[in-house]
Amino acid sequence: VNTVYVNGEYTPAEKASISIFDRGFLFADSIYEVIPVYKGRIFFLEKHLKRLRYGLTETKIHCDIADREFKELFIDLIDKNKLIDGQIYLQITRGNTFNRNHDISRPMRASVIAFTMNIPYLSFESAQNGLHAVTLEDTRWMRCDIKTTALLGNILLNDQAISHGADTTLLIRNHHITESAAANIFIVNDKNQIVTPPKDNQCLPGITRDIIVNLANQAGFIVLEQAITEQVLFNANEIMITSTTKEIQPIIKINDKSIADGKAGPTWCILFRLFQDLKSSHG
Ligand code: PDD
Repeated sequence: VNTVYVNGEYTPAEKASISIFDRGFLFADSIYEVIPVYKGRIFFLEKHLKRLRYGLTETKIHCDIADREFKELFIDLIDKNKLIDGQIYLQITRGNTFNRNHDISRPMRASVIAFTMNIPYLSFESAQNGLHAVTLEDTRWMRCDIKTTALLGNILLNDQAISHGADTTLLIRNHHITESAAANIFIVNDKNQIVTPPKDNQCLPGITRDIIVNLANQAGFIVLEQAITEQVLFNANEIMITSTTKEIQPIIKINDKSIADGKAGPTWCILFRLFQDLKSSHG
C-alpha cells in the first residue's frame, strides 16, 4: 500500500482525504509539480522548487514550507514507498475556508499533498518508435506559464488528439506552435538548428526543456528560442517533445503526414543519449 502525504501527515493512500470545501477541489485554485526520481534519488529539485515558488507568487497562494522541508518530505516518501524510478507529485492548494467564495483577499492556510508515481521512463528502443501528433487550436487560458492543476483545457485537447487516433497534440495559437498538452516542443529546422518557443505566458517553462537547451548548447548545436510557425513545423527535419515523464520523445507523424523520413531523427538520438548520460552522471 502506498503512503501519501496530506497536510503534515503520512497516511495509507486509500485513507487519504481532503475537504470538499478545499479550493483545489472547488476552483482548481492550486498549483503542482512533477519531479523525477531516478535510482531512488530526486533530480533537478532546485529547478522544480524555483518554478513552484514562481507559481506561488503569481497565484498569491501562501505556503510556509521551506525548500529543505520539501526535500525531507520527498525523501521520506521515496523511502516509505521504496521508489526507484518514478516521480514525486506535489500539489499546493490555496486552502479551505469551509465555504465557497471567489474572494481570496483573506489569508488562508494552504493544503499540501504529495505522493509518489510510477510512470515508467521509456528505453531508447521504445522511445525511438516515435509518436503521432495532431495539431489543434490552443484553447487554453493566457497564463500557461503557471503550473496550475486547472488542466481541463489540456485534458480536453489531449482527448481530442486521442479520439483522432493520435498519441498527443501540438497546440497552435495565432499560427504559431505553443507546446503539447503536457510537454514542450522542439524542432530541428531545415538549417539543422534546434528551435523551441521562448518562455512566455503561452507555454509552461518546462524543466526538461531547460535541461535539453543546455545539453544541446554544450554539445555544439545552434539552439534558438524563438516562435515556430505552423509552416516551419510542417517542414521540420525533426520534432520532439519534452517533459519530466516523457523525457525527450520524437514525433514522427503530424496529421497523418510523416515528418522527414517518418523515423526518429539523428538529433533526437543524440539528445536522448545526452539526457541519459546526465542522469547517470548525477550523484
Ligand atoms: N507536465 N507543458 C505542459 C503543459 C506540461 O504539463 C508539462 C509537464 C510540460 C513539461 O514540463 P517539465 O519538463 O517541467 O515536466 C510542459 C507534467 C509532467 C504533468 O502534468 O504530468
